[in-house]
Amino acid sequence: MDLGVFIPIANNGWLISKTSPQYNTSFALNRDVTLLAEKYGFEFALSMVKLRGFGGQSEFWDHCLESFTLMAAIAAVTQRIKLYASTAVLTLPPAIVARMASTIDSVAPGRFGINIVSGWAEAEYAQMGLWPGNEHYERRYQYSTEYVTVMRELWDKGTSDFKGDYFQMTDCKLSPRPSVTPTIVSAGQSDVGMKFAAELADFSFCLGEGVNTPTKCAGTINRLLSAVAKTGRKVGAYALFMVIADETDEAAQAKWESYKAGKDLDALSWLGDQAAADDRASAGGTAQSISNPVSAVNFNMGTLVGSYASVARMMDELDTLDGLAGVMLTFDDFIAGMENFGTRIQPLMASRKHVTAIP
Ligand SMILES: Cc1cc2nc3c(=O)[nH]c(=O)nc-3n(C[C@H](O)[C@H](O)[C@H](O)COP(=O)(O)O)c2cc1C
Repeated sequence: MDLGVFIPIANNGWLISKTSPQYNTSFALNRDVTLLAEKYGFEFALSMVKLRGFGGQSEFWDHCLESFTLMAAIAAVTQRIKLYASTAVLTLPPAIVARMASTIDSVAPGRFGINIVSGWAEAEYAQMGLWPGNEHYERRYQYSTEYVTVMRELWDKGTSDFKGDYFQMTDCKLSPRPSVTPTIVSAGQSDVGMKFAAELADFSFCLGEGVNTPTKCAGTINRLLSAVAKTGRKVGAYALFMVIADETDEAAQAKWESYKAGKDLDALSWLGDQAAADDRASAGGTAQSISNPVSAVNFNMGTLVGSYASVARMMDELDTLDGLAGVMLTFDDFIAGMENFGTRIQPLMASRKHVTAIP
């Protein structure tokens, strides 16, 4: 089972709360989190693209770096960890992103991949005049399919004459080509999102579910596996979880309760409005599941709350899931969380016995 970290490119990570650790983002923070992940043998780090925050007293995600430029800088100071940047497909042409990937590959050969973000929050794009209208909700995976096809042609052949509904290439050139074809990941939870992953991605993220119910995401993984069975391609499932750990179960639970008690209602209401705007969203889609009020404080992300030993046991349970290729983690406090994961949790995990930390 691979491990990854969803680095805090935006302030406050993934807790929409006034009582969780409050911190801004910076290159230094994201570099240090990634270096800790590398030290403890994590296989990858991924940064999201987020172009507009949710406001509220916690100014949730109002402060966010740019994903590719951040990962290029991190590429230069790391040695072995794989790095993913996220492209919001409405904002960056595929021939430019293909070239950005070649550039980062020349900094970190064979260590770069791209997360394809088809777009679900209109306000991020409308603010810069890039929202094509609500029909985008329906056609966003067709758009992304053409997008990835153009990039793959450029990486594979150095040239593209692709003619589609959204992109037209005319003897478009790319050189240098990357030393290794960049890995493509995506994160759609809807059926059409999973079909896209099955056709074009190498890995697809499945949202973990519930609190201390690690294997509850089996249903989502199985939906992905069914989509993949139809294409016959190899696509690994990566699950997303938040870890809130401490010396004892009680201490960890107390932190989780305090984060929930301080949830930032103004920021959450913005998220609810954005999610509701997609009235075609399927019940299993991200827009609906992340804004569900049950535990919206962390986007209803699957959450592992407990002592270091309890979290290690639950991580090992995840490893038993068929089709699961890895887990990407977030933390309430990324520096302390990574350090404790590396020194206190991972050494207890049977599924990570093979990993050697860099001294
Ligand atoms: C692990 C993970 C990473 C994601 N990264 C981003 C991101 O960087 N930017 C963004 O706007 N949405 C991000 N999303 C949302 C998805 O890219 C996608 O837009 C969303 O799942 C909507 O598609 P769906 O309706 O098919 O689920 C992410 C979701 C997950 C689970």
